[in-house]
Amino acid sequence: MSDKVLFFDTTLRDGEQCPGASMNLRQKLEVARQLEKLGVDIIEAGFPCISDGDFEAVSSIARTVKNCRIAGLARCVENDIRVAGAAVAPAGDRGRIHTFLATSPLHREFKLKKSKEEIIAMAVAGVKLARTLVNDVEFSAEDASRTELDYLAQVVEAVIAAGATTVNIPDTVGFTTPTEYFNIIRYLKENVPNIGQAVISVHCHNDIGLAVANSLAAVQAGARQVEGAINGIGERAGNAALEEICMALTTRPEAFGFPKGESPHNLVTREIVKTSRVVARCSGLAVQRSKAIVGENAFAHSSGIHQHGILAKRETYEIIDPRDVGWGETELPLTKHSGRAAVKARLEKLGHTLSNEELTHVFERFKKIGDSKKFVYDDDLATLVHDSLDTNDGTWKLVQIQFIAGDKTCPTATVTLEKEGKLYTDCAIGNGPVNACFKAIDRITKSKGELVDYNVRSTSVGQDALGEVTVKVMFGSDCSCKPVVGKGAATDVIEASARSYLNALNRNIHFSQMGI
Ligand code: KIV
Ligand code: ZN
Repeated sequence: MSDKVLFFDTTLRDGEQCPGASMNLRQKLEVARQLEKLGVDIIEAGFPCISDGDFEAVSSIARTVKNCRIAGLARCVENDIRVAGAAVAPAGDRGRIHTFLATSPLHREFKLKKSKEEIIAMAVAGVKLARTLVNDVEFSAEDASRTELDYLAQVVEAVIAAGATTVNIPDTVGFTTPTEYFNIIRYLKENVPNIGQAVISVHCHNDIGLAVANSLAAVQAGARQVEGAINGIGERAGNAALEEICMALTTRPEAFGFPKGESPHNLVTREIVKTSRVVARCSGLAVQRSKAIVGENAFAHSSGIHQHGILAKRETYEIIDPRDVGWGETELPLTKHSGRAAVKARLEKLGHTLSNEELTHVFERFKKIGDSKKFVYDDDLATLVHDSLDTNDGTWKLVQIQFIAGDKTCPTATVTLEKEGKLYTDCAIGNGPVNACFKAIDRITKSKGELVDYNVRSTSVGQDALGEVTVKVMFGSDCSCKPVVGKGAATDVIEASARSYLNALNRNIHFSQMGI
């Protein structure tokens, strides 16, 4: 067994459970391809039995990604396990079924209404069934950190005997502390006779901000797989941020029991920033500026004392060379004179492999934007990929938008949309041009969206920069409806707003069709 720490990325499963973060298939594939470049060992691609969309995503990722194991999540019940097995089948012997069952007293009594013995029997049966479908089976004892230790040890021993190759000890509700978690892992190592036959995995949530610290404490105690998500996205306060765990192990290997001078993991750290950006763009969840490693301010030194120190010797105030995680790898910007081949080459460098048809869409937008903007930077280009492919790919396409606004006029917008080759035009007034545009779109599409969040940012520098708008919109009125994130970009922020709203609307239609 390798002594390296395996990285299990659940950005596309637990990460995607973050409200508003749902990604479409193209976006999931893009994230998966980038995770492959980052070198993660296992990609948890989804929860196949939850919807047709999830099944399709897991099987497409299993077909596309060649260098990672691909896991599909399953409750510990026959149908889930069989569906997960079918979804990961295209990955061949790199397919993993990840089955889970809660073990804590709270879950046993109130959620599952099952005795300790019944839980063990279900877990064993689930793992045995999974082993008839794949050789790589992970079992998670949900809410493990609140489970009686001796009982947890019995569960772990039983599932390993049944064929589990990885046993995961999740801190499902982000409740544990580093010392406590260290002791749980140590206890299992010392009290489960067959523990050497499986990899111990840890999966931490960030409810009290300890997810990364807890994961690292578990590694110190002997866990050899860490689960988490890029940028720390996930349910509630999120999952452990994988890039932080990675850089803690890289920067201080000896602090976690690894020899200095050898990498304790298989990740390509230079891909970290790029991966963070791909995940932020695809999930619609912006990265906090001061976020460790990947936040815009992570390596920005504003105080004069620090700047002076850095200039004299970088290590005075910087413990990581920013280039080692992929900062500062920008190239010369493109201009409207750049040809299709140059745009294609730059996109490939940025990690976007597009079909000819997709490239045509992006190139058309690139030319249009090149006319109103001197330089097109890498971030502008990456934004255009999402904007051209995800905004205009859906049911409704934006054809034209006109608006009148000013402090003494009644803001009015006229919008023309296209659906299945037919044009629809309508107009509306609002309390501002953005509101008027959204209302005009609502009138045409006969929908009613409630805006719950609106953000605008510039994707690069200069007054002619591309504005990217991110909206969160609730469609429908019942309490089960979930907010949908939409993004749009243009040099005009009103146009960008209309595009973002339409993107949210199209995504909502797509998710309802896929049953997500
Ligand atoms: O948090 C959790 O317990 C999970 C399991 C399904 C592994 O996400
Ligand atoms: Zn989780």
